Amino acid sequence: MISFTRRRLLAAAAALPVGPKLVVTGQVLSARCEPVANALLDFWHADEDGEYDNRGFRYRGHQFTDAEGRYRLQTIVPAEYPGRTRHIHVKVQAPGKRVLTTQLYFRDEPGNRRDGLYRPDLEMRMAGKGAGEGRFDFVVEI
Ligand SMILES: [Fe+2]
Repeated sequence: MISFTRRRLLAAAAALPVGPKLVVTGQVLSARCEPVANALLDFWHADEDGEYDNRGFRYRGHQFTDAEGRYRLQTIVPAEYPGRTRHIHVKVQAPGKRVLTTQLYFRDEPGNRRDGLYRPDLEMRMAGKGAGEGRFDFVVEI
């Protein structure tokens, strides 16, 4: 288990060739649209070859939301792997509350319609062209 906060998954892979960069931002909100501070977000995804690093955990890291419930993840665009469309795994937990485990998806991915786990309401809103900047707000029960 990784015990330190890691917002920038790129740093751990600095010496290795990486895929296109991706920044994901957003907020954790309550059902009443109030920001949730100190919520835990644990992100992980496949690498540029569609593989998971289950030893060094190169593309896995957790962070906590700030006072306005905001988070910011700096990483790469994960590659697809057989049977799955492009996705990012995430666990979200408001302090002392139940863990929400879900996935984020990319708009206009050809693989989306072939993936039974894909859900359109879990698509990130992408800013600009391509897949470089995504936004997603999580709503949790508190
Ligand atoms: Fe996966």
